[in-house]
Amino acid sequence: MTLRDDLGPDFTWGVATAAFQIEGSPHADGKGPSIWDTFSHTPGKIGDGSNADVATDSYRRYRDDIALVRDLGFDAYRFSLSWPRIHPTGSGRVNQAGVDHYRRVIEACLEAGVEPWVTLFHWDLPQGLQDAGGWPSRDTASRFADYAEIVGSAYGDVVRHWMLFNEPLNIVISGHLTGMFAPGQKSLPAYLASLHHVNLATGLGSRALRAADPDGVIGTTQYLTPPLGSGPGPLAGMAERAADAVLNRAFLEPILGMGYPWRDAQILLGVRAWEKDGDREAMTADLDFLGVQYYTRLRARWLPLPGVWTVPGFGSSGEVTSTGWEILPEGLGMVLDRVHAYGAFDRIVVTEGGASFDDVLEDGRVNDPRRIDYYRTHLAQVAAARARGVPVDGYFAWSLMDNFEWALGLVPRFGLVHVDYDTQQRTIKDSGYWFAEQLGGSARPSI
Ligand code: FCB
Repeated sequence: MTLRDDLGPDFTWGVATAAFQIEGSPHADGKGPSIWDTFSHTPGKIGDGSNADVATDSYRRYRDDIALVRDLGFDAYRFSLSWPRIHPTGSGRVNQAGVDHYRRVIEACLEAGVEPWVTLFHWDLPQGLQDAGGWPSRDTASRFADYAEIVGSAYGDVVRHWMLFNEPLNIVISGHLTGMFAPGQKSLPAYLASLHHVNLATGLGSRALRAADPDGVIGTTQYLTPPLGSGPGPLAGMAERAADAVLNRAFLEPILGMGYPWRDAQILLGVRAWEKDGDREAMTADLDFLGVQYYTRLRARWLPLPGVWTVPGFGSSGEVTSTGWEILPEGLGMVLDRVHAYGAFDRIVVTEGGASFDDVLEDGRVNDPRRIDYYRTHLAQVAAARARGVPVDGYFAWSLMDNFEWALGLVPRFGLVHVDYDTQQRTIKDSGYWFAEQLGGSARPSI
């Protein structure tokens, strides 16, 4: 029995990437700068001092990438559109050359028999919108709805599956509270304002995209973490509830029309400063599926300051990946049950999951058994969830190939395909061959 047999014919097998992490060519064909261009060129922001000016050169090599997706046996390729290629400053003039580029990418997928799954926003906000206030400014939510309308009209005839946002948690918390990600803000008001405006943009964007592409299947993705181990002590339960509210529920519940879970995390009362009448309805998104992204569990600690919530932190006594992320396959099962329990989604897709290890390329092979094990154990959780009645019908591996891992630079390797950044040579890892075998792809090791 292969995994494809196990999960059945209606299950979508895919791999994922994101524009900024793979494309390079930051100035090609009229592209405007994004906040990640700015951030990655700011000294001290990227762990290994690298940037994504070349990355995997996929702006030019997209046909090779898509051939790999096909040869590995995947049905679908999830990639993101770079907003500043299409809308260089985020408002005003649309850049036709950027629009044409993604049309070619989409058509190349269709020619290869691979279904394009398109993410509208995977963190690369046009710098022009940042200069006008970024996500802490309410206007950015309206600009996002305009952008959704533009791409829905441009590609509605060739794209069926859409995802509005990639992981609002990282945009809002890593971008505006911890400052680890672009735009690098560390401010409580910026965090609260951007939380609200990203949620608002999800609602507005869903309706704009639906109007432009009525046949589209529209989702959005969320980084979700299972119930958090918060250690012993009387405050543990409180810390756990607060962390759950801040990390999971504050992103899920507003888009389901449930408002903010401020009773469990009073810090969220601060959002009221930005809420306007009618926002609860405006945030409620018109979605056909939820994309669940699961890597690890975040842990919470109580901070003994009045009104301050919890700090998520990695760290575990168990097995970890090369980025220090705890490997906890059952966490994926928990997260899927949790999302299903809302009763709001007819369809759930795991839009990301994967692991980085210290891969070694030797004699043309990358032997990465721990990655195979990671996928095997996580996919067993998906199969078990399906057997329990959770309507999860797809899994996207992160990532097709090694790429620019945000603030960690080029060091972590998450790919099923190894990339030599000096030569751009791609080498399918053993985990890639394993998928090909499971999914019926044509790729086979030559030695
Ligand atoms: C996720 C991101 C993705 C990638 C993986 C490792 O949080 O969505 O772009 O960086 O982590």
